[in-house]
Amino acid sequence: MCVPETLTLLVVALTVSAGFHRAVAFGGNGGGNTNNVYSPCSDTRIQRSDGFTFGIAFSSRPSFFLNQTILLSPCDRRLTLAAMNSQLSVFRPKIDEISLLSVNTSAFFPDNYGGYMVAFAGRKYAARSPPAFIANTTFIVTSFTLVMEFQKGRLQNLYWKRDGCASCKGNPNFVCLNKQDCAIRTPSCKGRGGTVDCSLGIQLAFSGTDKHLAVLNSWYEVENLKQYSLYGLYSNLKSSLTSQFNNFF
Ligand SMILES: *[C@@H]1O[C@H](CO)[C@@H](O)[C@H](O)[C@H]1NC(C)=O
Ligand SMILES: *[C@@H]1O[C@H](CO)[C@@H](O)[C@H](O)[C@H]1NC(C)=O
Ligand SMILES: *[C@@H]1O[C@H](CO)[C@@H](O)[C@H](O)[C@H]1NC(C)=O
Repeated sequence: MCVPETLTLLVVALTVSAGFHRAVAFGGNGGGNTNNVYSPCSDTRIQRSDGFTFGIAFSSRPSFFLNQTILLSPCDRRLTLAAMNSQLSVFRPKIDEISLLSVNTSAFFPDNYGGYMVAFAGRKYAARSPPAFIANTTFIVTSFTLVMEFQKGRLQNLYWKRDGCASCKGNPNFVCLNKQDCAIRTPSCKGRGGTVDCSLGIQLAFSGTDKHLAVLNSWYEVENLKQYSLYGLYSNLKSSLTSQFNNFF
């Protein structure tokens, strides 16, 4: 069957987001969306209630840098990520709703793809997060918080928020890596000799302002929620999206 490329992109970009009280699945045009940009490598300006498309690239740490020094967006062709051993996921959460994205690792072992990830969106106004360590053969970090900072609706900054291992302190199943990440031993994961589902959970938070200068404040809610297990809240959210998009860029 011949599917137009834009339609294919739309389907893969479709993702599931969870509202705080209940999980809500939605497509690109549902729920008051006015943002018709579905590519993570295009620029857009958002308002609250929009969907927003961004990508996460999985690869080795050096592959995200040009000449080992300049961190580029994975959309930047100079990186040639597509030619490397890398993988890309595209997500479309709803702005200003607390969402937990999950990447199912039952068939995708991040350490096979270099073990690091970078979140990104935009082209001329490209934003990218610093590379975050996910996994090697010894350890895997399964829980992340990604903050998306907008100014007048344009994405300015993406960064990983760490809690200094507060969430795993005293839990013998976890190891605190670099005083910032709670890690599990990789051999305890399903498919690696163990029994734990080591799927990645990426908590999203939005901060800043939308294009009408309305304040995005899901970030404050996340701060207040820290004391509770976010996984408990999202335990019924199983949707994940991990696909290979090597021809996409
Ligand atoms: C990267 O390195 C190449 C070859 O060493 C050099 O030609 C190029 O100017 C460098 N690019 C940047 C942006 O530093
Ligand atoms: C895995 O990563 C951890 C944390 O960065 C490091 O301490 C360890 O040596 C690494 N193990 C391997 C086999 O690379
Ligand atoms: C990941 O996929 C496996 C196999 O389909 C499934 O058993 C498991 O529950 C999934 N994990 C999550 C967190 O969705």
